[in-house]
Amino acid sequence: MTNCPVTTEVSGRAAAFDPFGDGYQQDPPAYVAWSRESEPVFYSPVLDYWVVTRYDDIKAIFRDNITFSPAVALEKITPTSREAEDVLRSYDYGMARTLVNEDEPAHMERRRALMGPFSPEHLAHHEPMVRRLVREHVDRFVDDGRAELVNQMFWEIPLTVALEFLGVPDEDKPTLREYSVAHTVNTWGRPQPEEQVAVAHAVGNFWQYAGEVLDRMRERPDDTGWMQYGIRTQRELPEVVTDSYLHSMMMAGIVAAHETTANGIANAVKLLLENREVWDQICADPSLIPNAVEECLRHNGSQAAWRRITTRPTEVGGVALPEGARILMVSASGNHDPRRFEDPELVDVRRDDAADHLTFGYGAHQCLGKNLARMEMQIFLEELTGRLPHMRLAEQDFTYVPNTSFRGPEHLWVEWDPTANPERRDPTVLQPRVEVNIGEPTAAHHSRPMRVVRVADVAKGVRHLVLESADGTPLPAFTPGSHVDVECGDTGVVRQYSLCGTPPSPVQPPGCPLPHVPRPDRYEIAVAREDESRGGSAWVHDEVAEGDVLTVRGPRNHFRLPSAARRYVFVAGGIGITPIRSMAGQARRDGVPYEIYYLGRDRNAMAFLDELVLEHGDRLHVHCSSEGTRADLRALMSDLDDDARDGAVHVYACGPQRMIDVLTTSAETWPEDALVVEHFASALGELDPEHEHEFAVHLEDSDVDLVVPCDRTLLQTLRDAGVQIPSNCQEGLCGTCEVPVLRGDVDHRDVVLTAAERRECSRMMACCSRAAGDRLVLGL
Ligand code: HEM
Ligand code: FES
Repeated sequence: MTNCPVTTEVSGRAAAFDPFGDGYQQDPPAYVAWSRESEPVFYSPVLDYWVVTRYDDIKAIFRDNITFSPAVALEKITPTSREAEDVLRSYDYGMARTLVNEDEPAHMERRRALMGPFSPEHLAHHEPMVRRLVREHVDRFVDDGRAELVNQMFWEIPLTVALEFLGVPDEDKPTLREYSVAHTVNTWGRPQPEEQVAVAHAVGNFWQYAGEVLDRMRERPDDTGWMQYGIRTQRELPEVVTDSYLHSMMMAGIVAAHETTANGIANAVKLLLENREVWDQICADPSLIPNAVEECLRHNGSQAAWRRITTRPTEVGGVALPEGARILMVSASGNHDPRRFEDPELVDVRRDDAADHLTFGYGAHQCLGKNLARMEMQIFLEELTGRLPHMRLAEQDFTYVPNTSFRGPEHLWVEWDPTANPERRDPTVLQPRVEVNIGEPTAAHHSRPMRVVRVADVAKGVRHLVLESADGTPLPAFTPGSHVDVECGDTGVVRQYSLCGTPPSPVQPPGCPLPHVPRPDRYEIAVAREDESRGGSAWVHDEVAEGDVLTVRGPRNHFRLPSAARRYVFVAGGIGITPIRSMAGQARRDGVPYEIYYLGRDRNAMAFLDELVLEHGDRLHVHCSSEGTRADLRALMSDLDDDARDGAVHVYACGPQRMIDVLTTSAETWPEDALVVEHFASALGELDPEHEHEFAVHLEDSDVDLVVPCDRTLLQTLRDAGVQIPSNCQEGLCGTCEVPVLRGDVDHRDVVLTAAERRECSRMMACCSRAAGDRLVLGL
């Protein structure tokens, strides 16, 4: 074992971890739930790999492809027997680096040189072909009442699309199909010794076939297709696009584009049919499909895990790793990490951050073909939900090709009553119902309609709204500190409001290692009228009435309570009580000692005061400046000093900037997580051109140079150049407009990134932060 941690104890569960067993194959995130909770980075003796299961750790690895090299991404996870190796040699098998396993700087040069065919304009050309193929395949079985979707459609179509995209003539499909399965087993599986030889022959044949096709393509380099694009690029950049790359990519490209997508759609349809109400929801409203695709990739993605190797001694999630440590990042597990996704087990096609899943990887190597895959999956779902909304899963056991990474059921049997096919009565169901979205879903794809069931004033100028799902779909459970985005009618303003209710108590189902958090039937928000705001609070106060349906997104949480705190001190200023009310409610319920300091100008303007007194008794300290009981925050912080340094107390604060500034200054020398603040109002975002300087920005992936003038934000400049970056608050509060920074110093002006993240300087909020120097290089 090359990797074996000499000093690290291997726990029983880590020792038993078997990614080739049925447990992992059936449900990878559930199989490693114990690890996410208690041992997020562990060494697996079975694999001789370090296994990483939490979202942030996985993302940090993806983010740094220098320390965590992708060189092992396509390495065989099970070493080949000598006999199988001899077989491969007899075929001159020479699979080399492609893109996905190439190191820098070669990788980025190659990626940039080969990106053209992945642009939205190029991808749009493939849409009619995908739709025609799906339509024709469904025609073949729509009247049968029963189908095995993998063999009858899901395998075939992404293969045809992959071949078309690569520019391969589409004969030899059945042979290729056999070869590509063999390639998966060869690379990511655990073939038995006798199987290895057969697999090696198939892989050898695949290799030779790929070479022959490439030779034929070289004769017609002007054909459309990614490979021909590569052949043409080779003329200008022979050192970047080498012969060895082209041959290897011919083979790896088919697998990259084919199996991932075939498995992706099979997993998606299985997941949606297992969650019937969600299937029915998208049958009724196909505009949900783009985000449903994303949610399926998050919840039940086709890439369960991906690999890296360390190039120097380093650390992941606090665990020291030596140089040369092989790492298996179980992205399927990261996608179910409750530290990142609210209520991760819920299939929520309106989840507004579903597209932040790790199924396409992240960072410099993030899947280039993701928008093609998204397009295919959308068309599949649209055709199936339109033509066979009454389809259901047949009784069956699901089987998977045992391997660590490529995951999808081998068969997917569905059945329906053909006499109830809608197209027999209404041929218009054959018309495309929604436009295919090329790229990430937009805000319009994941908004949640919520009915206002109660409006009440809970203090002078503070309105309390109780909201419930307007279409009866379940609301995700939320953790204290989370917020929702509310679209303020047609004012164009979107405002973030903390959920101020206490989440329902978790229950521990018998025999289940993890507590189950029941779903709430309502969300509560409280909105203070601020006449100087951009109109959001005034709209809530003046326009919103009981019975209205609001457009809401979320919940999301950037203000989380730590999982193992010994004591909390909550400090709320004015309307900053909203997240604190929820947090304190949970602390009380969990029996964690806490105190609340609630600061305001006037008692009658302090929301929920009477109720808080009743609930929290003398744990609540009320400070009213009109009564002369102004809080001495510096004294409070100084009293907490020793405990905060020992990690015995965590201070959580939400309120006006002045209050936050006092707390932050007093906590300057505390450990990083001892004081956590949320600003409900921000002085950020406003540009004062007199005090700004112009700076240059280079977009590395797209090779574009821009200049950000003194009076424009980076976000505005990117948008002016046609680079679509999502945004929300536009003042550094919400984390929506994050962009990756590759080089250059950033003048961070947001309140989202932690001090450590700022120091690391690998991302910034485009809406407010700027270059500290005269140039930034962004990973866009
Ligand atoms: C890379 C997943 C579809 C082409 C990757 C990576 C993953 C992945 C996990 C590695 C990312 C990293 O290291 O950060 C998927 C999934 C798909 C899919 C789940 C379908 C649901 C496609 C399609 C194509 C494609 C349709 C081509 C048309 C590529 C390429 C890379 C890649 C070229 C290498 C990018 C680089 O290293 O710069 N994909 N993929 N993928 N994928 Fe995909
Ligand atoms: Fe919210 Fe930039 S848009 S942080």
